[in-house]
Amino acid sequence: MNKVVLVTGANSGIGLALCQRLLSCQDAEGLHLCLACRNMRRAEAARSALLASHSAAQVTLLQMDTSSISSVLTAARELQLRFNRLDYVYLNAGIMPNPQFDLKAFFEGLFSSNVITMLTTGEGILTQKDGITPDGLQEVFAVNLFGHFLLIRELEPILCQAGRTSQLIWTSSSNARRSAFSLEDVQHRKGREPYSSSKYASDSLSLAINTHYNKQLTCAHQGLYSSVICPGFVMTNLTYGILPSFPAFLWTLFLPLLWLIRVFINTFTLTPYNGAEALIWLFNRKPEMLDPRAKYHSLTSGLGHCYTQPRQMDVDLDTSEELYDQLLQLEREVRRKHITS
Ligand SMILES: NC(=O)c1ccc[n+]([C@@H]2O[C@H](COP(=O)([O-])OP(=O)(O)OC[C@H]3O[C@@H](n4cnc5c(N)ncnc54)[C@H](OP(=O)(O)O)[C@@H]3O)[C@@H](O)[C@H]2O)c1
Repeated sequence: MNKVVLVTGANSGIGLALCQRLLSCQDAEGLHLCLACRNMRRAEAARSALLASHSAAQVTLLQMDTSSISSVLTAARELQLRFNRLDYVYLNAGIMPNPQFDLKAFFEGLFSSNVITMLTTGEGILTQKDGITPDGLQEVFAVNLFGHFLLIRELEPILCQAGRTSQLIWTSSSNARRSAFSLEDVQHRKGREPYSSSKYASDSLSLAINTHYNKQLTCAHQGLYSSVICPGFVMTNLTYGILPSFPAFLWTLFLPLLWLIRVFINTFTLTPYNGAEALIWLFNRKPEMLDPRAKYHSLTSGLGHCYTQPRQMDVDLDTSEELYDQLLQLEREVRRKHITS
């Protein structure tokens, strides 16, 4: 049977570029691509764009809002009805809401030794106001992490099958910082950097998933592997949202500067196509050969050459295990509430 690839947040930016690149891959012959999106109008437009360049491709749509428990559970049930296998799940949907740009910190940072970190991760210059979902979860945590966690748990029957491997691939960020994350507050109710916290949590969860689902020595070998990528700095709806009051023409004026920066900083991948590089690279790798502690970075050289480079993540087993246990506990709670409501 054909390989099945599920992509969340597939209707725009890096997710859509990934889909386009997957359909252009030589190894993608006979691939079934399922786009999981919250907005079906945008999903339809994405599907039409993909079919315009790959008319014979198998591209289907699935409605899923990762911030909503009932939407994720319904989508997971639907997936199990449609498919008896899932070879790749790209956990890509993400938000970075209401970022506030601290202009003063930006100018101070420009003249500090932290300038490169600030420009490549946004550290110190971006703070965000988080929302609360109707299920009572912190929104950024729910969209970027927990909805995906619940999806994986629900899909275990088709992800963990004897004699076959499945791959989870998280779109993380270089902004995933341990200092923004706390095991005492995994949802980041009290902090001002929910995005960074959620991305650090996805890095850490990926390590825990590898421990629980594919360690042959612990007899827990279920053939499910998890990896993490960083797309670099890419111009998408998410990054345009960093400065929402910035008129489009100012962005256009700003672009040559960004391209100039790219000559010196390889994490400035800028286009969704380039940002999807590591996602495609992982598609072509055997998951058993991958390092569970590595984050695979999409990079672009000054001359525009795209490549992937692994870098060690700042994760440890104890933290990842504790996070995993807390997510299991939260899963039990939300399921209980969901059944009684
Ligand atoms: N752009 C960058 O520089 C950058 C850097 C590091 C990491 N990333 C990560 O890359 C991933 C893709 O982002 P992008 O840059 O390509 O931005 P984007 O174009 O805004 O894509 C985000 C995708 O996530 C979807 N999404 C948002 N909330 C959702 C929800 N509740 N349920 C389901 N889908 C939802 C969006 O759907 P709608 O169209 O309906 O909103 C959209 O398809 C994100 O995880 C982001 O954190 C981006």
